[in-house]
Amino acid sequence: MAATCVIGLQWGDEAKGKLVDLLAPRHDIVVRYQGGANAGHTVVSGSEVYKLHHIPSGILSGSIANVIAPGVVIEPSMLIREIEGLEARGIEPRKNLLISERAHIVMPWHFIEDKATNRAVVAGESIGTTNRGIGPCYRDKIGRTHAFRIADLMSDNLKAKVTDTVAAKLDVLRHIADPADLETLNADKIYDQCRVWAKSIGSLSIDSTNYLLDELDAGKSLLMEGAQGSLLDIDHGTYPFVTSSNASGVGVSAGSGVPARWINRVIGVTKAYSTRVGGGPFPTELSDETGQKIRDIGREYGTTTGRPRRCGWFDAVAVRYTARLSGVHYLSLMMMDVLSHFDSIQVCVAYDLRGQRITRFPCLAEDLRDCVPIYETMPGWNTDVSGVRKLEDFPLNARKYIERIEELISVPVGVLSVGPDREQTIFLI
Ligand code: GDP
Ligand code: IMO
Ligand code: MG
Repeated sequence: MAATCVIGLQWGDEAKGKLVDLLAPRHDIVVRYQGGANAGHTVVSGSEVYKLHHIPSGILSGSIANVIAPGVVIEPSMLIREIEGLEARGIEPRKNLLISERAHIVMPWHFIEDKATNRAVVAGESIGTTNRGIGPCYRDKIGRTHAFRIADLMSDNLKAKVTDTVAAKLDVLRHIADPADLETLNADKIYDQCRVWAKSIGSLSIDSTNYLLDELDAGKSLLMEGAQGSLLDIDHGTYPFVTSSNASGVGVSAGSGVPARWINRVIGVTKAYSTRVGGGPFPTELSDETGQKIRDIGREYGTTTGRPRRCGWFDAVAVRYTARLSGVHYLSLMMMDVLSHFDSIQVCVAYDLRGQRITRFPCLAEDLRDCVPIYETMPGWNTDVSGVRKLEDFPLNARKYIERIEELISVPVGVLSVGPDREQTIFLI
């Protein structure tokens, strides 16, 4: 037994939550290992819709363990609300949720910093973060001097550390932040808040690194739940229009503490088209009625922020890059139903970059911005496929589309999704 990874291959929201929920019963432990409350993972179970931000999407699968590993940044108030929200719906996350003592905490000043620094970074365009304090928290983690981890909530030194850090933060933030926001930075109040957090989630905290290594040695199988998507990876994505963690497959080991030798299957999740929320280059974006049609049919509005998602055709140049980067064995091709009613469908097979045809995903956002997609046009299937449950039952043109994607990415499709419900899924693996 070993570890299966579910990784987003685009700019997030590929429906990783749906796939993790479906695969969870085949595993012993589900692990979230990077990102934080910037993630919004939707699981649909019958008439119930769950939106998870920190808690792994295995939480609805009975008693299997769900671990929040060291690479995640946790906003405890939101995590507690998430736990209570599940409890109100009859789920008992406190029975099987474990939180790493090493995970860092998004502190109140991180929200203020996120707001104050979310300004234009390249040519008048801003990153458009989720305003969840993610970048500032990871910045302090790397900086080490003003970082708080879950273990700190239980430390005798907590009060002094909060007092010192609030003073240091005020020194810097008074030059860049809204003065009204700074009034909330009161050391005594923040210390009291930390005590409330410790009381609520302290008992869930463990040394998840040794726990997972022990469980692997004991033959248990792990399901690693990626957040965001590979194109938002801090090192390999469309920098600076990315998130602050390694959101591609390369981040699994660092964030979870599970060494690469245990990872034996990587499933890359991609929509049958593309979406992006926030700023940054997006070559196949459709700013016309076709883009709006995809947005309307796919209900493409952010799970975390409610922002309309930018929509466009499938970009095989980008997904080929991320499938290789993330070491993907199988594709999980989602939202096939959303393309049900098109006479023709475009697939981007190369870019024209200042007169040159390229098939290699460019390194610089400035270059990607200048890339004009070169499309291959495929006939649509103009048939509702949301009721399809077998590969053979897809219309011929839909099957041709699936085969073309496999060919362009050089990875077989292992899962197909034709709607948000669990039953609207075809497993070929
Ligand atoms: P995640 O962040 O990758 O987990 O994805 P999100 O939950 O943010 O966004 C995916 C959205 O698509 C959710 O609302 C899902 O319920 C929905 N969804 C999942 N699979 C399908 C599908 O095959 N078709 C359609 N129409 N919607 C889907
Ligand atoms: P899931 O896990 C889609 C985007 C933001 C912004 C950029 C940086 O649901 O797929 P951040 O708040 O992380 O500093 O924002 O990354 N972003 C996401 N887009 N899905 C997500 O998560 C995202 N998490 C962050 O919109 O462009
Ligand atoms: Mg999402």
